[in-house]
Amino acid sequence: MRILILGSGAREHAIAWKLESEIGKENIFIAPGNAGTCLCGENVNIAVTDFDNLKRFCLQNDIDTILPGSEESIASGVRDSFENDDATKNIFIFSPDKHAGQLESSKAFAKKFMQKQGIPTAAYKTFKLDSLNEGYRFLETLSPPYVLKADGLAAGKGVLILSSLEEAKHELQDMLQNEKFGSASQSVVVEEFLDGIEFSVFALTDGENYVLLPEAKDYKRIGEGDKGLNTGGMGAVSPVPFYTADIHKKTLDQIVIPTIQGFKKHHINYRGFVFFGLILVNGDPKVIEYNVRLGDPETEVIIPRLKESLSSMIEDAKAGLLQTRIADSISHYATTVFAVSGGYPEKYENGKMIQIDSKVKTLFHAGTKRVDYGLYTNGGRVLAATCLGNSLDDALNSSYTLLDSVNFENMTFRRDIGQDLKTY
Ligand code: AMP
Ligand code: GLY
Repeated sequence: MRILILGSGAREHAIAWKLESEIGKENIFIAPGNAGTCLCGENVNIAVTDFDNLKRFCLQNDIDTILPGSEESIASGVRDSFENDDATKNIFIFSPDKHAGQLESSKAFAKKFMQKQGIPTAAYKTFKLDSLNEGYRFLETLSPPYVLKADGLAAGKGVLILSSLEEAKHELQDMLQNEKFGSASQSVVVEEFLDGIEFSVFALTDGENYVLLPEAKDYKRIGEGDKGLNTGGMGAVSPVPFYTADIHKKTLDQIVIPTIQGFKKHHINYRGFVFFGLILVNGDPKVIEYNVRLGDPETEVIIPRLKESLSSMIEDAKAGLLQTRIADSISHYATTVFAVSGGYPEKYENGKMIQIDSKVKTLFHAGTKRVDYGLYTNGGRVLAATCLGNSLDDALNSSYTLLDSVNFENMTFRRDIGQDLKTY
């Protein structure tokens, strides 16, 4: 296998790190990558949606497999573009096509799919500008808080949770009439609020069979105690202590299996990773959202727990040999804590020199850049400190000790990753 990974986050570093141990550095390329990914393969300075240049690079370098890390290239149709081109149609793109990618890029598409498959999720209706009044009436039938979701991709900002009916009506109008989130809010999903604790499960699939990967919980808010603005993710833990055998069974029977079966049934051309964003309500898992790729920072804790070969799973998916099963993983806890730039997720400065004074274990890079012999910050989320431990506490202690050996101006991180899980 000669593989090109698309992306530049700690997720892509974790994937490249795993693959390096299986197929060797000389067979791994990352576009555009970061200062960590180049330790596991070769960085290629091409944007993830620059399909013409990606194709040229693949043909010149005998790339046979592409693994898109983020949703960006999938939603832009990377698979369709390669498959519709005679020169590149034999390159295996391990992702859904653009239509199937709507499971993430369109909330309305995803909700309709769940409804058809009888998959537990919040009750909802979709509205457009010409049905704004019906939207108001639907809001009146719900009890607070109210959940409004821009249909399209809105950089993680398109979901509003509002406590008063008046506010909810006003926001619905703003989204539909004034396109508050641009074209993403030309259509809005209004849904029932679900009260519970969130977690995620992941599957690798060829569209028919799947391997269930370890579950994880991420921490999205900037502030401790889950306060403040949403971020790309401040930390993650795997396994999830409240994910009992009973919840696991319900998740498989009610969510994972009907989702995978739904692909064929509804002509959804799916392969790659499925990210099930779930919420546990009174002991029952429900789907909050699908993503059509792995999570970040969840990947940074799932991948280190995986005992199986990731490249073999991808090869099996390519050859139609994938067998439905639960992935073999180590029982250790994995935790990751992100060091972020001061000011993130709002304004922050790049270009701060990073000092790392330890014989580093697994430090996954995100917003980092090498200039000559120095390492500098190059993004809001900078480094993910992943560690394993026999207990949640052991793993967390190691992650925080590892972060103690990292330093850059204005570096911050959450000190409470995993604390809420200690009561389970
Ligand atoms: P989404 O982009 O759909 O994942 O929504 C972003 C976040 O909003 C989720 O991670 C949840 O924390 C929250 N959220 C979304 N939908 C609901 C819902 N129906 N009930 C409660 N919280 C929700
Ligand atoms: N951690 C959430 C995401 O990757 O979207």
